[in-house]
Amino acid sequence: MKVLVVGNGGREHAIAWKLAQSDKINRIICVPGNGGTASLDKCQNMPMRIDDFEGIARFAAVQGVSLVIIGPEAPLAEGLADYLLAQNLPVFGPTQAGAQIESSKSWAKALMEDAGVPTAKGETFTDAEKAKTYIQKQGAPIVVKADGLASGKGVIVAQTPQEAKTAVDTLWDKGFRKIVVEEFLSGEEVSVFAIADGITFRTLLPAQDHKRIGEGDTGLNTGGMGAYAPAPIVTPELMAQIEEQIFRPIVSALKRKDIDYRGVLYAGLIVAPTGEPKVLEFNCRFGDPETQAILPLLETPLDRLLMACAQQKLADLPPLEWKAEKAVCIVAASAGYPEDYQKGKAIAGIPAAEELEALVFHAGTKKKSEGFATTGGRVLGVTALGEDFDGAIATSYQAIERIEFEGIYYRRDIANRVRPQSNPVPANPAPDTHNETEDVWAEKEEE
Ligand code: AMP
Ligand code: GLY
Repeated sequence: MKVLVVGNGGREHAIAWKLAQSDKINRIICVPGNGGTASLDKCQNMPMRIDDFEGIARFAAVQGVSLVIIGPEAPLAEGLADYLLAQNLPVFGPTQAGAQIESSKSWAKALMEDAGVPTAKGETFTDAEKAKTYIQKQGAPIVVKADGLASGKGVIVAQTPQEAKTAVDTLWDKGFRKIVVEEFLSGEEVSVFAIADGITFRTLLPAQDHKRIGEGDTGLNTGGMGAYAPAPIVTPELMAQIEEQIFRPIVSALKRKDIDYRGVLYAGLIVAPTGEPKVLEFNCRFGDPETQAILPLLETPLDRLLMACAQQKLADLPPLEWKAEKAVCIVAASAGYPEDYQKGKAIAGIPAAEELEALVFHAGTKKKSEGFATTGGRVLGVTALGEDFDGAIATSYQAIERIEFEGIYYRRDIANRVRPQSNPVPANPAPDTHNETEDVWAEKEEE
């Protein structure tokens, strides 16, 4: 069968790579894809914009694709799934109504309250002055969140009431007219993804992401500088608790709202020192780079899982099978990221990295006649598996050291958190900044 994958990041390369391993798949079309998907067996890039819903629908229909998998949040929030479903095209990814779980913090907060899911206490404001009065009353640290997709720049963790009030003004100036203010939660962050089909769900292995640009979790927030799975902090007991206290009630609450949610429910959790998990955020898609660490561990064919989800048959699927290994993914970024960076740098050493049996997932790359060039802030994700984390860390670093492009930058402490002998990385440090993710709507520039 043929499938179509929408997106152009490392996450989409990992999805396409995993799909390509299935005997049932004979063609994968990536819209628009990247240098990695352009070079993948069975895979072809289609240079279309991801906001060209009509073009995507027409192409998928003409090609007779059996499933459209939507990677990023922006087209989900804009209703690509609704558009395709209306034309009887099978889709993996929630409708616009379901995608509000990511695109509207206040909607997600209300849903969590309705479902009785543990989360930070907070309030939604449509009046900046009222938000500031509330902040003054609550004190700091406190968290201010824009309601709406903000390319990851909508969350400010403020250390003082003044900082929080300034954040309210800044968001207001940017045009946000709805703001969530919530209590600061401390603990360790972990990402757990559930595949939900509108009736039931299946959780994937838990992963941890490194969001800050600098070692020791310092500096600006990024889309994610590395990840590892399975995250040891999530014991089987904690996973059972997350399933029963978080995913099951959320799936039921979505159903009560008549939302037929078929796609990923990404729970960004904080695990308190007491061991209690609380939801920081929900996303409506796979995480990046967590996916590049999780999917290489999945033994079950990905198409079987995603098709079962799209057809609302997850209940009939046998238990998911996983490799008994550990996975570490290190992101190689362009110098300057998450702020300004240069593009068009020639990339060398990918085959040498692959000789070590590392998987090199492309994020911001383009295929050129003579090789690959950089096109984004996050350029590559290098994943290695190992019997234990020490092995996976060692191989992924040996592999990434073989890769070169002008200005290559990567953190040297990915997955250090799981090695007790290493310097502990402060959990959930007090940020001063914003998140930054690639603008998936922007056309990639041609050099
Ligand atoms: P979000 O987009 O809601 O996940 O927020 C981005 C980041 O801000 C999270 O990954 C956390 O590091 C931090 N954050 C968000 N909400 C809170 C909170 N209530 N308490 C502490 N940190 C938070
Ligand atoms: N890795 C964080 C995200 O995908 O949002």
